[in-house]
Amino acid sequence: MCGIIGVVGSSDALPILLEGLERLEYRGYDSAGVALQDAAHLWRARSASGTESVSALIDLCESAPRDASAGIGHTRWATHGAPGEHNAHPHTDCSGGLALIHNGIIENHAELAEALTARGHVFTSVTDTEVLAHRIEEFRREGLNLEESVRATLNEVRGAFAIAVLDIEEPNVIVAARRVSPLIVGTAAHCTYLASDVPAILDRAERFYVVDDDQVCVLTPQGFHVTDLTGAPSTLNELVVNWDLEAAQKGGFDTFMEKEMHEQPGAITATLLDRVRDGDIIFDELRIEDDRLRHVEKVTLVACGSSYHTAMVAKYAIERWARVAVEVDIASEFRYRDPIVDGTSLVIGVSQSGETIDTITALREAKSRGAMVVAITNIVDSSMAREADAVLYTRAGLEICVVATKTVLAQIVALEMLALRLAQLRGTLSAADIESLLERLHEIPALVEHVLASDAAVARVVEEVKDTRDFFFLGRNVGYPTALEGALKLKEITYVHAEGYPAGELKHGPLALIEPGVVVIAMITNEELKEKLFANLAEVKSRGATVIAVAHENNQDVAAVADYVLWVPVTVSLLSPLLDMVALQQFAYHLAQARGLNVDRPRNLAKTVTVE
Ligand code: AGP
Repeated sequence: MCGIIGVVGSSDALPILLEGLERLEYRGYDSAGVALQDAAHLWRARSASGTESVSALIDLCESAPRDASAGIGHTRWATHGAPGEHNAHPHTDCSGGLALIHNGIIENHAELAEALTARGHVFTSVTDTEVLAHRIEEFRREGLNLEESVRATLNEVRGAFAIAVLDIEEPNVIVAARRVSPLIVGTAAHCTYLASDVPAILDRAERFYVVDDDQVCVLTPQGFHVTDLTGAPSTLNELVVNWDLEAAQKGGFDTFMEKEMHEQPGAITATLLDRVRDGDIIFDELRIEDDRLRHVEKVTLVACGSSYHTAMVAKYAIERWARVAVEVDIASEFRYRDPIVDGTSLVIGVSQSGETIDTITALREAKSRGAMVVAITNIVDSSMAREADAVLYTRAGLEICVVATKTVLAQIVALEMLALRLAQLRGTLSAADIESLLERLHEIPALVEHVLASDAAVARVVEEVKDTRDFFFLGRNVGYPTALEGALKLKEITYVHAEGYPAGELKHGPLALIEPGVVVIAMITNEELKEKLFANLAEVKSRGATVIAVAHENNQDVAAVADYVLWVPVTVSLLSPLLDMVALQQFAYHLAQARGLNVDRPRNLAKTVTVE
């Protein structure tokens, strides 16, 4: 999730761009850059200084022209190509006279790059983005103007984009376009702006407009005009903005947690994007030979916290679909138990930050014993990504809130895609079954939207139990890691005691704690085990517990055994954590709100735990 900004019509574009980039840093910051255009020149500066990229860029701009009337800026969250100045945006064409910034993923970048290279273009980066600059250049050479060249290029592109393009041949013009990745346009007297998000131009623009998919906008100092990708005239919808800066960075939500919960459909879509081609599951960055994956004898997953819960979900999926033995371990336990791993083992570290020291040291232990080590992480070029033999990235975008939400769902999607890939290589699922499961997986973003829309119903249930001091979360099969995750979310942000348990385990001790006043939340979304779960709920209800069930919307029987129900859409059991966990996030969120707590900064916790 990168941040882009542009301005045309200013007397000095630079400070507007730099201020905008500082305000977009929450969208990602492994590198940053600007391109400035005055009457006859295009000036570019880029910095790849991690979290200091924007401030390092400001230093680099000491020598920048201060009379540029147009400019574009970019803060990068790497998805294709490691962080580095050569991969930082803006990218240029061969002439250096055309500069482009991009937020998104160009799915067919490899085939475009191959053809462009064959026609003599020289690439200076390993990003997917750069192909756009060179293809636009070709159309310009054929006599098309910048707007026509951008349209022609985007008609050849598959994937997601929000782009902005400058060309010294057309001063005081920026051409922008959008598909999936967010883009807004702002207007003021004699100046027109573009940005990924409102904060970047909040106190510059007077009016704001949302660019829709496949719209192309031509910005000039006097304003803008819009077409679709065929060139037919189009219009933008105006966005009423009455936020202050902090509210704008939260996208109008009250908290980053709520904003990031609502980014989950997009995080899943991005994690799935471009990874199924002609029925094959492909991870470009997972550099492991198919044969090694095909002959793995045991998979060990190591992780902490919420990432441990997603690793537990993966165990059920890999064993069910790929028929490979899987063990899951808390990373801080794994490294001290003299683990049995060797050259036949595949050890997967799951970590959104890629910097959790417990998980990093567990992977080092596995590597020292000859295991093949894979990192599943959300941050390109993180420590784990660099140390592992191979990496598989989630694409959830930067997660600000200490409490993991969108990265959790993105991890489950990546892990279940990996499980299907293993099944594909080992022939343990038919092509038809894999296709069907992939179809169900691609339905999930819309189903998550549906759960998010049920937020008011969840809030009403929370109101009924907001004074409770003891919660049990129960589940069977993948409902068990879901229960653990629900309990963790509640503990993290409400500071109320909660425990997750396998539902079948309650009678072996914890049942002694059940009494009036205790609330039991049970995952009933596993069709095969539904009857057993009903029996568990009857056990606790008969001892006075208040029962909340997370159940499929078509479940006619659950109301008889539950006091309250959090309804979720039907999906296949092994995908149910992707929906159930959203309902449990909402539950924890509203209980924290009811208790007046700050969900973005929970006490005692850090976003990344780099100490043992
Ligand atoms: C999740 O809400 C917590 N913030 C925490 O448990 C987190 O999942 C854990 O620290 C692991 O972090 P990682 O995914 O970055 O390794």
